[in-house]
Amino acid sequence: MLERNILDDNLTLSAYLLKQRLEGREPRIGLILGSGLNPLASEIEDAVCVPYAEVPHMNTSTAESHVGRFVCGTLGGKCVLAMQGRLHGYEGNNAQEVAYPVWLMERLGVKTLITTNAAGAINEAYQVGDFCIMSDQINFTGRNPIAAPDPANLSDRFFSMMDAFDPELRAIAHDVAAEAGVRVQEGVYLGLLGPSFETPAEIRMFRVWGADTVAMSVVEEVIAARHVGMRVLGISLVSNMACGVEGASPTGVEVLDVARTREIDFAHLVTGVVAQL
Ligand code: HPA
Repeated sequence: MLERNILDDNLTLSAYLLKQRLEGREPRIGLILGSGLNPLASEIEDAVCVPYAEVPHMNTSTAESHVGRFVCGTLGGKCVLAMQGRLHGYEGNNAQEVAYPVWLMERLGVKTLITTNAAGAINEAYQVGDFCIMSDQINFTGRNPIAAPDPANLSDRFFSMMDAFDPELRAIAHDVAAEAGVRVQEGVYLGLLGPSFETPAEIRMFRVWGADTVAMSVVEEVIAARHVGMRVLGISLVSNMACGVEGASPTGVEVLDVARTREIDFAHLVTGVVAQL
């Protein structure tokens, strides 16, 4: 874990260099495109692409279907900075490394973060192919990106996670989905480290805890974004029923296959929300 002042220096350099690569574009909306949802980046117009490997201090994506680059341009009439692929804990990134691009987006002026992923449904009323707007989250990774020596900024250490997912953004997402005829749920998302899928016993426990969906990302990004005051919307694609639900035994291949079938509705939903911001 880096001390805050070293982290600050790293972010300053990364932001300086990434800003130059954006050639005057000024994104206020950040998008994190999760497993199988990366193709939305091809809808971004007048785009400039910057591989993570070309941004100092950024780690790069190794997960299948995660391209590993920033794509900045126009979507829904707005300037967006998209992450075409994210950094996961299960790739060996620590919590700060997972959070780093979120803080980098904030340095570039991003005020609203839309983070997306594929998730398993714990809630038996959900169907594969549904989208789920996150109403709240349970961080079951056992890690927190703010947990670090923090001599420069102690007052920010204890901050509220009330309404972590912005109520107004959630309402917009519901309206856009209704207008587009896209089936959406709203529920509590539980994020864990992975990369093994859960056992049926774990899924039964998570249901008792109040979780509706589960996956291996998002929670650390949301904590990082709230720490710097960004508004957050989280959307999952239900790519599978969670392990043991209706006898399911999910695989990575299945997750990507389902995401491929839902690309068009996903693009409608996200582009529609961005247009309203
Ligand atoms: N569990 C964990 N992560 C996931 C799942 C799941 O069922 N589906 C997609 N990502």
